[in-house]
Amino acid sequence: EKTIEATLPLFGKKVVVSAGPTYENLDPVRFIGNYSSGKMGFEIAKAAANLGAKVILVSGPSHESVTGFPIERINVVSARDMYEAMHTNFSDADVVVMSAAVADYRPKEIAEQKIKKENDNNLIIELVKNPDILKSLGEIKTHQLLIGFALETNNEEEYAKKKLAKKNLDFIVLNSMQDKEAGFQKNTNKITIIDKDLSMQQFEAKSKTDVAEDILNVILNKL
Ligand code: CTP
Ligand code: CA
Repeated sequence: EKTIEATLPLFGKKVVVSAGPTYENLDPVRFIGNYSSGKMGFEIAKAAANLGAKVILVSGPSHESVTGFPIERINVVSARDMYEAMHTNFSDADVVVMSAAVADYRPKEIAEQKIKKENDNNLIIELVKNPDILKSLGEIKTHQLLIGFALETNNEEEYAKKKLAKKNLDFIVLNSMQDKEAGFQKNTNKITIIDKDLSMQQFEAKSKTDVAEDILNVILNKL
């Protein structure tokens, strides 16, 4: 006899989602971060759980919560922490959605003590590149459905298609920043999904909860 859960379309599937910003420490009291709320990734994780998936949510610092959902949340801080958590959970994943806003660079050195103000009016901080988590997953993927996001302010489609190919994705979700209803710290989003066959699907601006359902529908069609 089947349980009700076993009838859900993602039952038995492992879905790994990343969400939120990363923080890159400068000293014990300061970091470089970004305005990502984590909301989009949390909604994707919840939508996947509602469809019966086993969900792992790898989250950077975020005030969002998964209370009441059967989701395993792994909290991380830096891009390198997130890299570790994503790779640890990748081999047996069926679907991986990278919606985190990963810092492209981090300070080369983390000062052991608080950086003191000097007489000099300028402070120069050297930054080094972080690993591209999604690209590194694309390089080792076998059976996994791999999904990325693209945030662009100009030449949106062209840049998103480049990322799709470079990171070996199954599809990419382009976030339209040109739309005032979309983006960081907003509850709504306007997306275009570009498939690896380069076919495109445009969606209306809608709540991030509804956007997550649209994304999950595309995933279901591909499994
Ligand atoms: N990403 C990642 N690791 C990074 C940077 C980005 O996994 N170090 C992922 C993001 O989570 C997103 C996708 O790559 O799913 C695209 O991120 P985006 O910032 O739009 O593109 P970048 O490749 O970082 O290029 P750029 O910021 O220069 O546009
Ligand atoms: Ca980036």
